[in-house]
Order: sequence, then C-alpha cells, then structure tokens
Amino acid sequence: MKVLVVGGGGREHALAWKVKASPLVSEVLVAPGNAGTAEVGRNCPLPSDPGGAIPAVRELVRREGVSLVVVGPEAYLVAGLADALRADGVAVVGPGAQAARIEGSKSFAKDLMAEAGIPTAAYRVFTEARAALAHVHSLDPPIVVKADGLAAGKGVVVAQTWDEAEAAVTAALERGVFGEAGRKVVVEEFLAGREASVLALTDGEDCLLLPAAQDHKRAYDGDQGPNTGGMGAYAPTPAVTEEVAGQVREEILLPAIRALARAGCPFQGVLYAGLMLTKAGPKVVEFNARFGDPETQVILPLLQDDLVPYLQGAATPGGLAGLPALRSSGAAVTVVLAAKGYPGAYQKGLPLGGLDAAAALPGVLLFHAGTKRDETGQVVSSGGRVLNVTGVGASLAEARERAYAGVAAIRFPGGEWRRDIAVRLA
Ligand code: AMP
Ligand code: GLY
Repeated sequence: MKVLVVGGGGREHALAWKVKASPLVSEVLVAPGNAGTAEVGRNCPLPSDPGGAIPAVRELVRREGVSLVVVGPEAYLVAGLADALRADGVAVVGPGAQAARIEGSKSFAKDLMAEAGIPTAAYRVFTEARAALAHVHSLDPPIVVKADGLAAGKGVVVAQTWDEAEAAVTAALERGVFGEAGRKVVVEEFLAGREASVLALTDGEDCLLLPAAQDHKRAYDGDQGPNTGGMGAYAPTPAVTEEVAGQVREEILLPAIRALARAGCPFQGVLYAGLMLTKAGPKVVEFNARFGDPETQVILPLLQDDLVPYLQGAATPGGLAGLPALRSSGAAVTVVLAAKGYPGAYQKGLPLGGLDAAAALPGVLLFHAGTKRDETGQVVSSGGRVLNVTGVGASLAEARERAYAGVAAIRFPGGEWRRDIAVRLA
C-alpha cells in the first residue's frame, strides 16, 4: 500500500522512516517533505496555505491510489483536511475540524475538560478586556494568559506580575495582536511541577499510549530564552511512571475521547496530552490533536512493532480493538539544530555538512526538518528548526552520548543548538 505523510518537518521525516520500515508499505509519499524525506520516499508539492492544500491533497491521494494518510501539522486538521479525506473514503490519522478544536481552541478544550471532570488549571474565558482585567486583579501572580486560537506557540504568557498579565490581556483583546485567534482569552491558574508529554493513538473509543516524552521548549541552555517549537526531547521520561501513565489514561485521555464522542465529534488520530505533573497528580496544560515535534523523533525509534497496523487502527472508528499494547525498548534523545536567531529572525540557505558521517555512527538517526537541496545538490537550510540528531541507546545516558556524537560530526556554521538536552537525567 501507499502511505502519504502530510507535512515537512522532523516529525514527518520520522513518521515516513517508521512507516517505510513496514512490510505492508510499497511507497511513502511526503507532501511537501524536505531533503531527508526525499531519501525515504517521494516528495510531492503542496500549496503552503492549509485551505489551498486540501484540494491538492485530495487530488494527490486519488491520483496515486494512497490507502492511508497521516497528517502532521495541526493547521491542516483545523482547516478540515481529515474531514475532506474521510468524505472521499480515505483512511486518515487525524481528527476532523470539530474534534481538532481540542487543540485549535483553548476555550473549547477547557470547557470539554470541565464537563468531563479532567484535571486541569482553574480558568475563565473572556472576550472583553475590562472583565478580564478585573479577574486578573482578583488573582495572585503568576497568572497564565492564553490566546484562544492557534498562535504558533506565541499565544501563551506566564505572567509573573499583574502588569505582565494586563499587557497580555490588552495585547490580545484590545490591540488584536493575534487577530481572530486572540479575540477570546483564557485566564488560568499557574500550575507548578514538571512537564511531560503523553501521546496516544485513539480510534475514537479506546486508546493506546506511546512512550512518554519530555520536550525542551526554551531556546537556550538551562531553560532560558524564548519559547520555541521544541529544541530537543527525550523518551521515555522516568517522570511518567507506570502508575502515572495509568492515571493519564483513565483520568485524562479516555474521558477526553468519550467527551469528544458525546459532543458529536469522535476523535481518530493522535491525542497528545501536554501535562504538568503536580503534587496533586497529572493535570492538563494543553491538548494537541497530532504527533508532537520533536517528541515523535524520540518516540518512534523506541517502538518494536510495525506502526502501520496501529495507524490504520487509529484511522477507523473502533479500529484499535484487538491490537496489543505497543512494545518499546531502550531510550532516545534528540537535539534540534536550528538556524542562528531562531525563534526570531534567521537566515535560510545555510549549508550543512558531515551528514553521512553522522548518520553512520552507531545509534544515530538524522531526521531533517527545514532542509532542501540547492541546484548543486548540496543540503541547505530552509527553515528555523533545521535538523534533528537522534541518539538511540540502552539508557538515556547512552542515547544522549550518541546524539551529541552525531551533532559533533555535523558541520553547520550558521547553526546553534542546546548542549543540555536530557542532561538532568543522563
Ligand atoms: P501551551 O501552548 O498551552 O502548551 O503553553 C506553553 C507553555 O506555557 C507550556 O509548555 C508551559 O510551560 C506553560 N504553561 C501553559 N499553561 C500553564 C499553566 N497553567 N501553568 C504553568 N505553566 C503553563
Ligand atoms: N513539541 C510540542 C508540540 O509538538 O506541540
């Protein structure tokens, strides 16, 4: 069968790599892909706006006879790509637009959690600045202010003072800096603890957990600097014990899946719970409606099983019934090489060298993100996050050593990366 992976980052390269390893798969297509996915499968062009991409993906699937589609980025899901493909009778890993609101609208997610009794930060939703500001002043900082819609990771402010919280409220509700996405804000309680990501494949009824991961969102060592899409990750995280994973399944994931079904929008795909592990147990910081990036680059290398039957299961109502729990072993650490300046302004077209030497090292996997080949065939950067260097080993310490050995073999003069991914545990 042919499988299409939609997206062009490190997550999609890792997905294409894992799918390609399946004996069930004859060819992997990636739209739009990157220089790395072109080595695993065939890249196909894709219009950059999600609305315009929908007819293009439909046409590609029809023309190529694709049997299964895995959607990476949330914007396509929120725009209704999965609905369009399901209407065409195509199996797709990813929820329809209604269910994708669990990621695309924070107020929808919070109301769903309240209704289902899912542990999360106490919150209120506002559309008017005056009421929001009055509420902010009734709380003690830190206070968390979130734009309701998708804001490319920039819509969340953890305000340490009333002034900062006020500025966040007025930026969204009065100055409209997030446009439509910020016409509503959620003001919520600050949760203290360690963060962890638990991802599950779900068929709309049941779910199967993937190994829990830990992301590193800040740009610089020591968790300093601005928030990014993720500068590195490791899995499995020892913070999520078997007991915690069981709690997350029973108290968070299954109640959310059932609540979505009750709301008339059953969720098929990957449900990602971004958690704070508090003294009172795991609480939800956010839900995502898709695989994480860079979490996927450390989760998939641990899986012992062919992922494709599980993806097919998660594409179909009740399709996971009868499939055993996913088996995983070892540990993985990924380091993101970014263009200098990311997540702010950065250059594109920066050359990368030493990739083959790095990939030949034991336990090193390279997952490309923003890369392409220039006219001469040289791999150059084409985005902010450029390359994921994943080390796989028996322990986190070994995986970390291997990841950084891979990084050392790569020449990327215009790049920067964190030196402390997984350092606390390795
Ligand atoms: P989000 O986009 O909702 O994942 O938020 C981005 C980051 O802000 C999270 O990864 C947390 O580090 C932080 N954050 C969000 N909500 C809270 C909260 N209620 N308490 C503490 N930190 C939070
Ligand atoms: N790494 C965080 C995310 O994928 O949303």
